Amino acid sequence: NPFRQAQYLTSAHHLHQLPPDAGFEFAIAGRSNAGKSSALNTLTGQKSLARTSKTPGRTQQIVIFELDISRRIADLPGYGYAKVPVKLKQHWTQVMETYLETRHCLRGVVLVMDIRHPLKPFDEQMLNWSAAAGLPVHVLLTKADKLKRGPAQASLLKVRKALPPGATAQVFSSTSRQGLEEWVETIKPWMDY
Ligand code: GTP
Ligand code: MG
Repeated sequence: NPFRQAQYLTSAHHLHQLPPDAGFEFAIAGRSNAGKSSALNTLTGQKSLARTSKTPGRTQQIVIFELDISRRIADLPGYGYAKVPVKLKQHWTQVMETYLETRHCLRGVVLVMDIRHPLKPFDEQMLNWSAAAGLPVHVLLTKADKLKRGPAQASLLKVRKALPPGATAQVFSSTSRQGLEEWVETIKPWMDY
């Protein structure tokens, strides 16, 4: 798993603070508390690479992790948390839309959803922006350890039916590492591995 090489590189509040737009990058997006940072830690096999929290809205920058000189992962700020000030929400809506639209090195979006609460309005917005930018989307239905197998599969089928053509989805859990290999194999080609 080449993602185990990940190292923290930098954090950006604005797009001009990102590393040069070259090489390959994929982004992890999702609602606040969906489990993005935990998924990233599971992907990289590093328990505390990305900060995780019980307090939603914790990640308030684009955090960049470097795999090698030409490959990076972007952990996007969580969205949809009520207690984040309106001004900040608007700032991040704008930043994320522009990032998806203009970042040339961006090869795909991993959209993390709590398997018990998939396809909220923000998720639909991310799907629309990604489609508009011609980016592949892979949906991680995470926290699958919180559901029995039947309901988990039911959620997966429901989400797959609702996704736009070209978008894929899978069941995942950071706690049990269920689905890790499927995730790795899906995004490797994005990063030219
Ligand atoms: P923000 O950065 O605030 O937007 O949150 P996030 O999407 O990065 O979520 P984070 O990874 O910090 O996880 C939020 C909470 O969900 C934490 O309490 C995690 O321990 C928990 N969590 C994340 N993934 C899983 C999972 O697969 N299973 C279970 N049971 N809990 C999880
Ligand atoms: Mg986070």
